[in-house]
Amino acid sequence: MGGFCLVNARNHSAISRSSRRHRSGTGRNTSGCPRQYPQAPEAPVTPTPATPSRHASFCLNGKPVGIGNADPNRTLLEALRDAGLTGAKEGCNEGDCGACAVVVSLPDADGIPRWRSVNSCILPLAAMAGREVRTVEGLAMDRPDPAPDRSESRECPASLHPIQSALVRHHGSQCGYCTPGIVMSLVEACHRRDLATEEDLAEQLAGNLCRCTGYRSIRAAAIEALEAARRGCGLVPAPAPSSLPLVAPEAPDGGFFHPEDLRSLFAIRERFPAARWVAGGTDLGPEITRKFHRFEALVSLEHVRELAELRATPDAWHIGAAVPLTVLAERLAGELPEVDAMIRGFGSRQIRNRATLGGNLATASPVACAATLLLAMDARLVLASATGERVVGIDEFFTGYRTTVLRPD
Ligand SMILES: Cc1cc2nc3c(=O)[nH]c(=O)nc-3n(C[C@H](O)[C@H](O)[C@H](O)COP(=O)(O)OP(=O)(O)OC[C@H]3O[C@@H](n4cnc5c(N)ncnc54)[C@H](O)[C@@H]3O)c2cc1C
Ligand code: FES
Ligand code: FES
Repeated sequence: MGGFCLVNARNHSAISRSSRRHRSGTGRNTSGCPRQYPQAPEAPVTPTPATPSRHASFCLNGKPVGIGNADPNRTLLEALRDAGLTGAKEGCNEGDCGACAVVVSLPDADGIPRWRSVNSCILPLAAMAGREVRTVEGLAMDRPDPAPDRSESRECPASLHPIQSALVRHHGSQCGYCTPGIVMSLVEACHRRDLATEEDLAEQLAGNLCRCTGYRSIRAAAIEALEAARRGCGLVPAPAPSSLPLVAPEAPDGGFFHPEDLRSLFAIRERFPAARWVAGGTDLGPEITRKFHRFEALVSLEHVRELAELRATPDAWHIGAAVPLTVLAERLAGELPEVDAMIRGFGSRQIRNRATLGGNLATASPVACAATLLLAMDARLVLASATGERVVGIDEFFTGYRTTVLRPD
C-alpha cells in the first residue's frame, strides 16, 4: 500500500489545490436562496430578520433566515424550536438519538450538493451560514416541480411526502417522538446513490433511536419510500450553496467566524488567541450541550479551501483535515478497504456527515477511531501555522492522554 498523507491542522496546512465547493449551477431568487424551490406556504418565524448584506443568514425551508447576533454557542435545534418549527425534537442533546435530525445541502465528493442528515442539537446555528437547511415542516416543498399530475397520482399522494405516507401505511410510528428525525434521515436515503442493500438501509437509520415502534415496520416503510424515490416521487435535488454571505455574527470579544482560506484563519487566531476551532462540531457540540461550556469565539474550518482538499497522488492520499467522513468514503470508493471499514463503524450517518479526521485526531481521545488505523497505515500529518509548516509522523503526534504536538500558535 502506498504512503498515506493526512493533512491535519490546528494552525493549518498549505496544500494549494482549489476547493471542491460547488458554487454554480442553480439560479437564485432575490432573497439569495436557490430559485428552484417553490416557496413554502407560510414564512417560518425567523430568529432575527435577515439583513444579508451585513449579517449572516441561511436558507431555512427555502427562505432566508438571519442568524443575527446569535451567541456562537446557540444550536440550530434551539433556533428551530424557538422559531416554532418543533418537528425536530430534543432527545439526548448529544448527537446520539437522531430525534433532532434535519437535512442540510452539502457538497459530495464530486462537489455536487446533496441532502445530508445532521443532528441539529449539536450543530452551532452560526455554522449554517450560507447553507440550505430543510426541516420536516419543509417537506411539502419536496414535490417534483412542475409535475402536479404526478404528485396527485396514486404512487405519490399529494397530502404527505412519500416517506410520511409509507410510515403511516406500515404503522411506523407510535408516540412519534423519533418520527420527524427518521423521516429526515430517510430523505437523505432517497437521495443517496450508494444505498443499495438492506444493510446500507439499517446503517442509514442506525443513528435514529426509536424506543416504542420497533424497527420492522419502519424498515418496511423505508423500503417502500425508497422504491417511490426511484420513480422520482418526492425527490428534489439539494440546491447549491446559497449566495447569502458567509459573514458571521461578531462581537468585540469573539463571535463565530467563517474564514475561507488559511491566511484568514491564522489572522483570526492572532486576533482571538482563545478562539476554538470547529470542523464538524460532533465533539465540540456536546461540550456545549452536555458540559455547558460557553465559547466566546468559534472559528469554523468547513469553508477553509485548503482543508477541504482531497486528492490522490501516485503514492499517497492527501486528505484535508476538514473533509467530512462521508465525503472521504465516497471519494475513496473502496480503494482503501480499511478506511472504509473504520468509517462504516464510526458513530452514525448523521455523525459521519459532519465528523472529520482532523477533529478526531485533535481531540487525542483514547477512544477515537482514526488514530489506530492511521498508525497502522503509517500516515504523516502536515501541521501548519502562520509561521510555517511541519510534517510529523502519526506516531509522533500524540504525547499523552489528550495531548498532542499541536502548538497554540
Ligand atoms: C453520537 C456520537 C458518536 C460518535 N462516534 C464516534 C466513533 O464511533 N468514533 C470516534 O472516533 N469518534 C466518535 N465520536 C466523536 C466525534 O464524532 C469524532 O471525534 C469526530 O471525528 C470529531 O470531528 P469533528 O470534525 O466533528 O470535530 P469538532 O467537534 O469540530 O472538533 C473537535 C476538537 O478538535 C479541534 N479541531 C477540529 N479540527 C481541527 C483541526 N483541523 N486542527 C486542530 N484542531 C481541530 C476542535 O477545536 C475541537 O477541540 C462520536 C461523537 C458523537 C456525538
Ligand atoms: S437530540 Fe438526540 S441526537 Fe439530537
Ligand atoms: S415512535 Fe416512539 S420513540 Fe419512536
